[in-house]
Amino acid sequence: MGWLEELRDRIEITRRKAYLDNAGAGPLTKDAVEAVTNFLNKWQVEGEPWELALDHIVEAKKVFAQLIDAPSWQNIAAVPSATYGLNALLSAMEFKPGSNVVVSPLNFPTGIFSFHALKSRGLIKEVRVARSVNGYVPLEEYERLIDDNTAVVFVDYVSWITGYKERIREIAEIAHARGAVLISDAFHAVGVLPIDVIRDGVDALITGSYKWLLGPHGAGFVYVNDELLGSLSRLYRVGWELTITR
Ligand SMILES: Cc1ncc(COP(=O)(O)O)c(C=O)c1O
Repeated sequence: MGWLEELRDRIEITRRKAYLDNAGAGPLTKDAVEAVTNFLNKWQVEGEPWELALDHIVEAKKVFAQLIDAPSWQNIAAVPSATYGLNALLSAMEFKPGSNVVVSPLNFPTGIFSFHALKSRGLIKEVRVARSVNGYVPLEEYERLIDDNTAVVFVDYVSWITGYKERIREIAEIAHARGAVLISDAFHAVGVLPIDVIRDGVDALITGSYKWLLGPHGAGFVYVNDELLGSLSRLYRVGWELTITR
């Protein structure tokens, strides 16, 4: 069996259907089904496999760190969903009075809503939505919108709606020149495109597993670089499950 056949063999649905990109959930692999089933069976028969769960989480963080070329697995948090991860991160960030946030209209709505929620709570002053032309946002638009009061530039790595791959590195350079951080939702990129968060200048990245990591719902990741991690307040996200560890 060639590598492609071997891969397809581990994805049950390919026996009956041609799986096209529906931009919703990816096809589930046998590996994911087996891992979840084995874990639940063990729990059912022997009691909660707590130590095993912790080992799995650390292992998953290590593999994910490699996938996005993060410096360490300790920059990775395991979260239940991309949306949860973004909100956990935002709720721990400190914003200077008068801050604005610049977002792309090609982003999945989850992030846009989160920033509007920050605005309605008075934590930021403005959400600036960039204008797209022919399905993408020209770099000049970011130059125009990002200023010294911009706290965050939030751009999806690949757009859920057009499939456009953003010029993340160049956008990050514009953001950094004005002192803003670049956060990217990479749900449509991880597992498909090579990602290097250092090369791309990404300060924080969020994703879930159920698209092109071919995993289930309920498992996502957040990457936060050292500098941003050091500035996060622990006041807003406290609890035993806080999963960014140092
Ligand atoms: C780019 C993007 N981000 C986030 C989400 C939602 O992720 P979650 O269900 O993990 O919160 C989606 C769902 O389709 C998405 O396309």
